[in-house]
Amino acid sequence: RRRHTRDLDRRTATSLVRSWPFPPGTPATIAGRKHRWKVGGVTTHFSPRHGWTNDPNGLVYIDGEYHLFFQYNPYGWDWGNMHWGHAVSKDLVHWEERGEALYPDALGPMFSGSAAIDWKNTSGLGKDGKPPVVLLYTAAGNPTVQCLAYSTDNGQTFTKYANNPIVKQITGGNRDPKVLWHEPTKQWVMALYVETPEKKHTIHFLTSPNLKDWKVTSQTEGFYECPDLFELPLDGDPLKKKWVLTAASSEYMVGAFDGTKFTPETPKLKGHRGRGFYAAQTFSDLPPKDGRRIQIGWLQAPSPGMPFNQALTVPLELKLITTADGPRLTWTPVRERDTLRGKATPAPLTLKPGDANPLSDAKGELLEVVAVLEPGKADEVTFTVRGVPVVYDVGKQELSVNGHKAPAPLREGKIDLRILVDRTAFEVFASGGLTYVPMPVIPKAEDRSVGVTVKGGPVKFSTLEVHELRSIWDRK
Ligand code: FRU
Repeated sequence: RRRHTRDLDRRTATSLVRSWPFPPGTPATIAGRKHRWKVGGVTTHFSPRHGWTNDPNGLVYIDGEYHLFFQYNPYGWDWGNMHWGHAVSKDLVHWEERGEALYPDALGPMFSGSAAIDWKNTSGLGKDGKPPVVLLYTAAGNPTVQCLAYSTDNGQTFTKYANNPIVKQITGGNRDPKVLWHEPTKQWVMALYVETPEKKHTIHFLTSPNLKDWKVTSQTEGFYECPDLFELPLDGDPLKKKWVLTAASSEYMVGAFDGTKFTPETPKLKGHRGRGFYAAQTFSDLPPKDGRRIQIGWLQAPSPGMPFNQALTVPLELKLITTADGPRLTWTPVRERDTLRGKATPAPLTLKPGDANPLSDAKGELLEVVAVLEPGKADEVTFTVRGVPVVYDVGKQELSVNGHKAPAPLREGKIDLRILVDRTAFEVFASGGLTYVPMPVIPKAEDRSVGVTVKGGPVKFSTLEVHELRSIWDRK
């Protein structure tokens, strides 16, 4: 423990977090070393206040609160000492940290996993008629095994199950259990990453009546780490539900799942189109009347000079829509994010090559640019947001975010764009969510400007807005 505190003096860090989020240039001392925050904190994305985070874990909705657990190193700026951190939100926007939920133990460090509410108390771990909340996680010792922890106080505190592990090591490379209750067959299903002895990457499917006794029923090849399996209505039609199997890279297949076996109906498809998005997971137990499937990913955005490192993406609503190529996922920020919008600079107009920048009044550090445009015969539309270029190539139907290219199809002759700007990353959405481009990038601290220009012909904007965003850490 003493060795691990070397990187970060916990007491110092705790006293610093009072003035969160730090503006760029804030001087501070951590572990006797002088720092000057180069960037300031992430302000519209979740990150723990100090230490390292990677995968989101155990996303679950309990009695009016969204619970977020995450791979967490409370003792250092880099990966290591894996705990599960814990944060809670009432609105998917503002988060409150709750300290560590799972500590490393004799079985190993706490690797990724998932959560669910055991509504029928199949595990018998409930108390006073209240269903337990369960966490299924990997204890990454030698052997590496799958374990269970439970809460009888609505997810405030967790107790490790006395007879862990619940799944013995299948191979050394087995981890990241994602569990769900499969109502048609009335059993629990676990999707588990397993590297076979032949070094093949597979997802194993296991079933259980009680979360404690599991058996392997089938496997699918071609996915690496952090699987997720969920059902979505195609085009919002509850009579046309399909299953989606995905994993850490965010590639996915659409198909059928009968409780024991996944049967793909598509090839493996590309997920996000950017960089630095990994190990996403979707929420369990959202109320049926909500009806959404909400995902959070690890946003691999380094935070130089800060007492924390890395962030999580904005919560993303997933939908499945029909396209000419077959069913495809779409990603859009959850609507709750709109509450961060402050001053808007709207400017619906037709913009011609050579026109003055219609957004010269818009300024800000945390921004959201929203545009719906009809490019007609124009060749190119270029947004420059805090010095970072976001370019739409009309001929190629391609988006480029800070030089990184992604296909972004026109839809009925139009392209819709949303550009979310934070201190260490952009997230860009286009084509009704078919194109999601997360992008770690640190814009120039002093550049607060937004501009738009067009080439090759006039472009009609039915929507063109720049919103200044409030920090999610600002409770006012
Ligand atoms: C993915 C991952 C998981 C593992 C965790 C450890 O980023 O490698 O497979 O459980 O991170 O932190």
